[in-house]
Amino acid sequence: MTWVDLRDRYGITQLVFDEDRTSSKLIEQARSLGREFVVQIKGEVIERASKNPNIPTGNIEVLVEEVLVLNTSKTPPFTIENETDGGEDIRMKYRYLDIRRNPVKDSLIFRSKVSMEVRKYLSNEGFIEVETPYLIKSTPEGARDFVVPSRMNEGQFYALPQSPQTFKQLLMVGGLDKYFQIVKCFRDEDLRADRQPEFTQIDCEMAFVEQEDILNAFEGLTKHLLKEIKGIDITDFPRMTFDEAMKRYGNDKPDIRFGMEFSELNDVAQHKDFNVFNSAELVVGIAVPGGNSYTRKEIDKLTDWVKRPQVGALGMVYCRCNEDGSFKSSVDKFYDQDDLAKWAEITDAKAGDLICVLSGDKNKVRAQLSALRMELAERLGLRNPNEFAPLWVIDFPLLELDEETGHYHAMHHPFTSPKPGQLELLDSDPAAVRANAYDLVLNGNEIGGGSIRIHDASTQAIMFKHLGFTQEEAKAQFGFLMDAFQYGAPPHGGIAFGLDRLVAILGGQETIRDFIAFPKNNSGRDVMIDAPAPIDNEQLKELNLKLDLPS
Ligand code: AMO
Repeated sequence: MTWVDLRDRYGITQLVFDEDRTSSKLIEQARSLGREFVVQIKGEVIERASKNPNIPTGNIEVLVEEVLVLNTSKTPPFTIENETDGGEDIRMKYRYLDIRRNPVKDSLIFRSKVSMEVRKYLSNEGFIEVETPYLIKSTPEGARDFVVPSRMNEGQFYALPQSPQTFKQLLMVGGLDKYFQIVKCFRDEDLRADRQPEFTQIDCEMAFVEQEDILNAFEGLTKHLLKEIKGIDITDFPRMTFDEAMKRYGNDKPDIRFGMEFSELNDVAQHKDFNVFNSAELVVGIAVPGGNSYTRKEIDKLTDWVKRPQVGALGMVYCRCNEDGSFKSSVDKFYDQDDLAKWAEITDAKAGDLICVLSGDKNKVRAQLSALRMELAERLGLRNPNEFAPLWVIDFPLLELDEETGHYHAMHHPFTSPKPGQLELLDSDPAAVRANAYDLVLNGNEIGGGSIRIHDASTQAIMFKHLGFTQEEAKAQFGFLMDAFQYGAPPHGGIAFGLDRLVAILGGQETIRDFIAFPKNNSGRDVMIDAPAPIDNEQLKELNLKLDLPS
């Protein structure tokens, strides 16, 4: 007997060549088949003697009568199995072979299923899919633009859209009232596990709506996807303001699947003799469940972890909550048992827990403790990929101070409207102005963001002024939008989901690359087609481009 595994998109089927029943030529042919050959088989489907209950075709095999080799194959550079011996680089270079492996193939099929459900749901709700152009002018979403030189317009460039933001607003002015598009967006920014330079949005906009309408509509979409894709009924979509999220979790996209909420300790930890805390703007702690079991060495390692440049804390104070109700802290010199009992009360620490405390500048220390909270949750296995906890974060600040330039820029984008009655605050206290802007967070990931827009030219002009545009600059860059607002623009708002992120999280992962057929690596390269690449002089000349490269 000779057996061959035949693989196609649907799985593996066993072929059998029975030496007693088939010609020696056929047996020889079977033996000459190599890995990854493409074959056409004729034969009889028969019941297997030894069944394999682990695969859907495990009860049958094909008794082969005829083999036709449609194509041969070189030996692939890595094994095409679920657990492969190929590293990331080689798999990316031969991505078409990687796609033959089940985990990658299944992720792409999964993504297709999510996209189909999105289209089904939104089109049932009366949204129409409209394609917007890719060769456009800069859309300010906070990243750098990818630009494309124009051959016909010497010295001029298109920008690829960071999002279809202005076009979807123009569609509302055009009267299309409910728009969506599953659309590629392009952002030249540093890459991370959840970011690609080209990625896909489920981009949506609605006219004659308020924030509440948008939140309800897209809760509906999220519920539908969780139900259809994961079989989970989620009814609870809690809401939290940006300020509250920062105070309770130090993060504008908190993972609320687990506790370890922040507790501010300034009142009980300051005004003793511990100068580190006395000079800090914020002293803040979390209670780590069961953390008292950590050895001194493990706690020292944790302290080193928060002191890594990526986190940036100067140090960490800890307090053990012993089973007998006593406390042992790293700052016993300054705090007695009564003081520490107050820390435990405020952080809600139980016997057996460990209280971790960081201090310093409010914004920095919140970010540091948030990083520690996420790291501990990971170590403690509190981030269950099969649990889904959505959260709306609302009332974002309208503006954000750029520490480097000292200028304010739009936290969401310049088309976002301030909350009613807050426009006046822009002059006196710009940082205090809150926006009609919201993010949808799922398991600690921002999967969508949007806002109610400004829909009148005068408010938009005030916004541009506050963002540092002169009237001329605003007109040159966004004159088309300001013009459109003068022709009866309806109130409107919308949201865009990151499809790659949404799919990855629904698939129980956080790296979006696994759910993209042909992703870029961390340097923004496609190593399979070897892009980006230089272009030849002829093409440069045609585009009227001169490169001034250092020799
Ligand atoms: P925003 O910039 O928040 O909003 O983007 C919307 C969502 O897109 C996803 N996302 C990304 N995914 C992968 N790689 C990236 N580089 C990347 N950047 C963003 C995130 C994010 O929540 N025009 C507005 C939407 C609106 O106001 O309606 C916009 O683009 O999941």
